[in-house]
Amino acid sequence: MIVSFKLNGELVEVDVPPNMTLLDVLRRKLGILSVKRGCERGECGACTVLINGDPVCSCLVLAPQAEGKEIITLEYLSKNGEIHPIQEAFIEAGAIQCGFCTPGFILTAYALLKRNPNPTIDEIKKALEGNLCRCTGYIKIIEAIQLAAKKLQRYSR
Ligand code: FES
Ligand code: FES
Repeated sequence: MIVSFKLNGELVEVDVPPNMTLLDVLRRKLGILSVKRGCERGECGACTVLINGDPVCSCLVLAPQAEGKEIITLEYLSKNGEIHPIQEAFIEAGAIQCGFCTPGFILTAYALLKRNPNPTIDEIKKALEGNLCRCTGYIKIIEAIQLAAKKLQRYSR
């Protein structure tokens, strides 16, 4: 079947089996490799994308469910060779080790900071509930999101 949706601002049409997951559509059909294959059971958040602005596990979405939606992956965030302030903050705060979980965390942080530009630590923890990291112990990720919030407020002034 043909499925069409907006991917990172561009309209795409793909011919896929109806039981293919969005994770596989993105990685195998469209070459979007920032979306990681982890548990494939909706538990780790490595496959997180934004669908109409909300973080969603792409391993739990079937291709037909993407029809007409607006999907954002990490590739959307850097523009003209410059990384996004949230990406800068993750680097500066030392919130990346192996990096496998990082695209999912950054997209979750992006969605959080869009709707709540100045979250408390508890609000950050709540937003990150669906993302697992085996390396960092989370503290630096939380610090990175606090730093990202400050950077984004500075840029928007
Ligand atoms: S791969 Fe989708 S939640 Fe783990
Ligand atoms: S940095 Fe390795 S899983 Fe998070």
